[in-house]
Amino acid sequence: MTKQINSFEEYQSEYKKSVKDPEKFWAEQAETFTWQKKWKKVLDWNFKEPKVKWFQGAKLNITENCLDRHLETRGDQVALLWEANNPKEKARSYTYKELHEAVCRYANVLKKNGAKKGDRICLYMPMLPELGIAVLACARIGAIHSVVFAGFSATALADRINDAKCNIVLTADAIRRGKKEIPAKAVVDEALQTCPSVKKVIVTNCAGIAVSWVPGRDKWLFEELKKVSAKCPAEQMDAEDPLFVLYTSGSTGKPKGVVHTCGGYMVYAEYSFKNVFQYKKGDVYWCTADIGWITGHSYIIYGPLLAGATTMMFEGVPTYPDAGRFWNVVDKHKVNQFYTAPTAIRALMAKGLKYVKPYKLSTLKVLGTVGEPINEEAWNWYDEHIGKGKIPIVDTWWQTETGGIMISALGDKGPRKATYAGYPLPGIQPVLLDPKGKVIKENEKEGLLAIKYPWPSMIRTTYGDHERCRMVYFSAFKNHYFTGDGARRDKDGMYRIIGRVDDVINVSGHRMGTAEVENAINQNEEVVESAVVGYPHPIKGQGIYAYVITNGKIKDEQKLRESIVKTVSKEIGKIAKPEKIQFVPGLPKTRSGKIMRRILRKIAEGNPGQLGDVSTLLDPSVVEHIKKGYLK
Ligand code: WT7
Repeated sequence: MTKQINSFEEYQSEYKKSVKDPEKFWAEQAETFTWQKKWKKVLDWNFKEPKVKWFQGAKLNITENCLDRHLETRGDQVALLWEANNPKEKARSYTYKELHEAVCRYANVLKKNGAKKGDRICLYMPMLPELGIAVLACARIGAIHSVVFAGFSATALADRINDAKCNIVLTADAIRRGKKEIPAKAVVDEALQTCPSVKKVIVTNCAGIAVSWVPGRDKWLFEELKKVSAKCPAEQMDAEDPLFVLYTSGSTGKPKGVVHTCGGYMVYAEYSFKNVFQYKKGDVYWCTADIGWITGHSYIIYGPLLAGATTMMFEGVPTYPDAGRFWNVVDKHKVNQFYTAPTAIRALMAKGLKYVKPYKLSTLKVLGTVGEPINEEAWNWYDEHIGKGKIPIVDTWWQTETGGIMISALGDKGPRKATYAGYPLPGIQPVLLDPKGKVIKENEKEGLLAIKYPWPSMIRTTYGDHERCRMVYFSAFKNHYFTGDGARRDKDGMYRIIGRVDDVINVSGHRMGTAEVENAINQNEEVVESAVVGYPHPIKGQGIYAYVITNGKIKDEQKLRESIVKTVSKEIGKIAKPEKIQFVPGLPKTRSGKIMRRILRKIAEGNPGQLGDVSTLLDPSVVEHIKKGYLK
């Protein structure tokens, strides 16, 4: 097992070591895993191409590290605990032995249906244990999993399946979320009309609803499981073989497949999990994220299981049957570490304390947040009412591309400060840059957040398009990975994340590219052009404000608004719905045709007073029009 840091002094000395000799530091952590073959070289890199190779020549299978190696030491300990959407439904649990067997069986089902090492398999699943098992089953046989959050539309799903040319889709009949049942299989059926690469669909029976069926292509999981054995040897993988693809949004219209590889990701997922959450044997750890996001990959499945932890999955939503569900589940399963998003905290805070009061919450030891900056009010509420003022809050900053937590407190080991993520983890070397790329050395300054040295779980490429990876992350500043975030460093060297500096909006912790949403809006016949920006939203963090130019022929504005919302839901999913849609005669553009989003953002924020210089605009008068029509 990798090293667990026990004090702030120890953190400081580990950090120093990790910067002085990163290869030695990570080799020592990596030693603690099960490798089928040792590496020849710890690290080979340049950020120019970029090329990043950790533990070259090493062979392993991550599931042997998540499962097999624990069988002797903790075979009968609960590995995966599952709480259903409906509180009346019995919770399910798998010991390490049982999970190992379930993963092997599922892996054999995949093989039987033609899956091979290197294939891409798409998962579009509800938060059932079968989702976690399926992820590991892919890894077991060396297939690359691509989990798509089951809130995405059929169109968005099809785009992702086609980009990775998946040959198998794993899904369920339906998704249960609160009182709702969403027909997942029907979404997959619709998507597959445009996905020629998919040969098999394996369906978990979740809600028992009627589904349409393509004989030969579609298989029920429960029937397939009857036909396979419980033994499945782990495929031998190279440390730099891809483990998974996960699609995420950026400033362009097309989501990109972030690729993570087997060896480095494994080492960093376990190391960061154990240290940030200060997990101790016997603890029950719960991360409320969906496995469709990186948080679920690294901190529901891989990190905890690598560390031999008991990890909980929750199928439902925070407000069902009422806004006390999280706290009810914490008491019910005696949760010790609880990890959620600021947007959930704000939503529950708004419902009032009466939903918190009935619960003891006495087992909690560490609270975590992730996904967006946490505002002071939400931080204080979390601290006072959930932590009872006694437990550390870890505000963890990271990204799909970083694979693991980069800046965070380590449980109660060391200083914490509201709204500050804190210090970098050992091995992580952040810098603040000015817009010209000059490193800002002084503290108490703001800048662009970049990382100057590789870490084991960093992005290796964007699927099928390495040049895109270089352009997006490594071209803005020479020899740096650029995060897209702005940050501030205080006098003690702690980091506070301010937010995105690019065209990315963060709605309820979900990343959305402005261009993606605009493309969807522009699908409407009446729409000529559009521009979307984020504005402060009390619960979601940011909401989407859309400025739309129409062809002038619209009779019913409300109807067009509805139609726009519908297209966005269809093209991307409900999570990308614009909150406000303002019809405008024109957009503020420079003479070269670039939309000045800064101006649109100010207006959407309700701050039209300080628009700054508008003299470079092609037509400054359009700004007055837009200001007048501002939707409060
Ligand atoms: C973006 C990454 C990493 C899992 C969830 C989101 C924002 C993330 C924090 C935090 C302030 C944060 C950043 C980042 N973000 N965590 N603790 N404080 N901002 O993953 O979808 O890849 O989004 O989320 O802007 O760049 P993601």
